[in-house]
Amino acid sequence: MKNEELILIIDFYGQYNQLIARRVRECNVYSEIVPFNTDIEKIKSKNPKGIIFTGGPASVYAENAPMCDKEIFNLGIPILGICYGMQFMTYSLGGKVARADKREYGTTEVSINNNSKLFKGFGNVNNCLMSHTDFVEALPEGFENIGSTDNCPNAAMQNTEKNFYGIQFHPEVNHTVDGTEIIRNFVYEVCGCTGTWKMSSFVQDTIKSLKEKIGDKKALCALSGGVDSSVAATLLSKAIGKNLTCIFVDHGLLRKNEAEEVSEVFENSEVNFIKIDARKRFLDKLAGITEPEQKRKIIGEEFIRVFEEEAKKIGTVDFLVQGTIYPDVIESGVGLGAKIKSHHNVGGLPNCVDFKEIVEPLRDLFKDEVRKAGLELGLPEHLVYRQPFPGPGLAIRIIGDITEDKVKILQDADYIFRKEIQESGLDKSINQYFAVLTNLRSVGVMGDERTYDYTLALRAVETSDFMTASFSKIPYGILENISSRIVNEVKHINRVVYDITSKPPATIEWE
Ligand code: XMP
Repeated sequence: MKNEELILIIDFYGQYNQLIARRVRECNVYSEIVPFNTDIEKIKSKNPKGIIFTGGPASVYAENAPMCDKEIFNLGIPILGICYGMQFMTYSLGGKVARADKREYGTTEVSINNNSKLFKGFGNVNNCLMSHTDFVEALPEGFENIGSTDNCPNAAMQNTEKNFYGIQFHPEVNHTVDGTEIIRNFVYEVCGCTGTWKMSSFVQDTIKSLKEKIGDKKALCALSGGVDSSVAATLLSKAIGKNLTCIFVDHGLLRKNEAEEVSEVFENSEVNFIKIDARKRFLDKLAGITEPEQKRKIIGEEFIRVFEEEAKKIGTVDFLVQGTIYPDVIESGVGLGAKIKSHHNVGGLPNCVDFKEIVEPLRDLFKDEVRKAGLELGLPEHLVYRQPFPGPGLAIRIIGDITEDKVKILQDADYIFRKEIQESGLDKSINQYFAVLTNLRSVGVMGDERTYDYTLALRAVETSDFMTASFSKIPYGILENISSRIVNEVKHINRVVYDITSKPPATIEWE
């Protein structure tokens, strides 16, 4: 039977909900996130092996505090409450939640009772991320304390008879040491899951549901040649075959040789593949534009217009497929997270789209999970492990206004940087690396001549989820070689700098 082991995640507007889902998937168990006000009958019908209450920004005493049906505690299903989830459990079962004078935030040493199933395999203390103001002052009847910090006497609790557990800290984030093991303990030791879900299940289930959803209607896929859209296109192609048309737009802001490389892969495959040369169109629209968000919006909108035009040529096309992945969704400010920038395939969408529906099969996945799905689908490794390239392309790596000349300068410099990194073998450990053409010009000397040319910045980061990243410590010798090649071989660059900022506080891209 499909997904016979389900962990249901009840969403109380927590910031890290998808990370919880991801951690459960890492334990090879299927998970689904549902809103806190989901009907109790619907919850029962899903027959979950366990339930996780997420964190959330509210206080249980707030006027519109999210609450789910209290009947959930009578279903005989194990529950793990995280942060607000623990407070909601406490409040609902007769314990007391109180408000601290000040918020506790940061990685904190938690003393834990490792006789609890939840902390099996742990020592007596564990560093965990605490982020809360309210706290559990008195446990509900039938519960015992299994964890505390200096500031928070009830940092973890359990009721072993009912299989209810609460933790004030966040096991889903990397700051909590071995947090995934806590989730694994809940899922395996408490809920009795055996771990039958794999990425191949995601692939099969997604193909099946895409088939059901799209039927014999037509779909267009925005193919960029990057791993996300290639995986999305392959899923769709397996689901609906020739009713899928993939459109690759050359907006003139791609990396050197990229348009040719992408065309080569897909022109020789089974999918309907169309390449549109829209270089002039995009550059005209972007002329004189310097503001990053405006660039993104223009490119996002122009993309959609190109698709709409192509779609009309094909006939009635109901669905537009996009390779949006989870970090794109949250960082574009959809939902409660703060808006950082409009990723062109999410926040930058124009309001009037001709398609009936946008299909985003990878919307809940993180980058490394998308790569796994790509391998499952049999895509070649060089494509699957390709570093990400943003939809707006070089437009957001040219600071200030964009001209054809600047695009050429950046393409040539970026090409040298990428080749050198690959040849040094550092491409295995650096997850994204590229050049940025700043709009700063400075004085240099070449031969005996004075130059007044552009400064190029090099960016290289190490990250697994692209939501946080550290700058890469590239050895000086390699940087020196790259710098000297670029300045010597690329006209109009006379200075190269290396970006030594991590994310946060910087983002990976400069715009
Ligand atoms: P930032 O700059 O937000 O980037 O730290 C995180 C990751 O997302 C990529 N990125 C984009 N991808 N459309 C995309 O498909 C976009 O508009 C976009 N903007 C940034 C970026 O390259 C990095 O991998």
